[in-house]
This record gives sequence, structure tokens and C-alpha cells, in this order.
Amino acid sequence: APTAPVRPRVVLVGPPGAGKSTVAAELAGRLGAVVRDTDADVEATAGKPITEIFVDDGEPAFRTLERAAVLAALTEHSGVLALGGGAVLDGEVQAALAGYRAAGGTVVFLDVSLSAAAPRVGFNRSRPLLLGNPRAQWQTLMETRRPVYEAVASLRVATDDLTPAQVAEVIAAEL
Ligand code: S3P
Repeated sequence: APTAPVRPRVVLVGPPGAGKSTVAAELAGRLGAVVRDTDADVEATAGKPITEIFVDDGEPAFRTLERAAVLAALTEHSGVLALGGGAVLDGEVQAALAGYRAAGGTVVFLDVSLSAAAPRVGFNRSRPLLLGNPRAQWQTLMETRRPVYEAVASLRVATDDLTPAQVAEVIAAEL
């Protein structure tokens, strides 16, 4: 008899430049799962890129859209879900992630150093929170958020010396 389709439930969290989108694609390919990305969901809802949401409507408006996107995705989506880097700062998101874990879902913190993240975040202008001095701003974000990433995650993967495929392999082995 055919086996039932695998319905892994994995959420990836971590700062900009941790490789969430790339690892999500690798992991989904490996698991035969579908990827969803809350940044893309927010852009679809708003009908414009995140940079424009920040400029036109401000960060609080973005965070409101993001919270709704995350809460919807966590209930609707079976598969691999990548969260925007700041989504975990929201209390309702934190509570929803706790529920997701209690229901058997896996929340993975992709940990990364500044030197490994910098080449990924430094060379484009698509991240409104890193427009001034990307390295200093990234470091400040990470200092504030590290305890939150650690608190919401059930698994931390140190990604600096791994390829995205290797990170996906580590995660898949833990599911
Ligand atoms: C943000 C990260 C971005 C995006 C927005 C805000 C943040 O997502 O949601 O620019 O606060 O760290 P990535 O983590 O995918 O870059």
C-alpha cells in the first residue's frame, strides 16, 4: 500500500542572513514538503515589497501584518515555514510557537555569526532595518534577539561551517 505523505511541521527562525529561505528550500526538497515564508505572505497581503511597507506605513504596520501572517501560517501550513527575522519578538507569536511545539512541531534557530551573515545581508538594500550601518545594526538586533530565538526554539543549529544542504541534513535527522 502507498505510504501516507509525510507532513513535517518545521519552523525556521533566526536573524537576517542566517539562511532561512535557502535552508527552508533545501529541507523541503529533502522532506518532500512545501515551503511557506511569512515575508512573502506579508508582501502578498500588502501588495508591495517589505521596503515599501516600511516607508509608506511604518514598522508597526509591518509588524501587525507580520503577526497575522505568522499566526495564519502556523495553523494552516504543514511543511516548512520560514519566519521573518523579527517575527519572534511578538508575544502572540511566541505563544503560538509554544503551542506549535507542544503539538509536535519543531522550531529551529539558525544561529550564525556576524561574519557569516554579513555577506548575505550587506550587499542588497531589501532590509529596512539594516540600511544605515548593516554590521552594527545586525549586531544590535542579534544581541537583543538571541535570548528570544533560544527561548522559542526546540533546536539550535550553528550554521557557520555548514552548507545550507548540511544544515537541512542536521535538521532532518532531528525530526
Ligand atoms: C526583519 C527581517 C526581514 C523582514 C523585515 C524585518 C527583521 O526578514 O521580515 O525586513 O526585523 O529582522 P529576513 O529575516 O528574512 O531578512
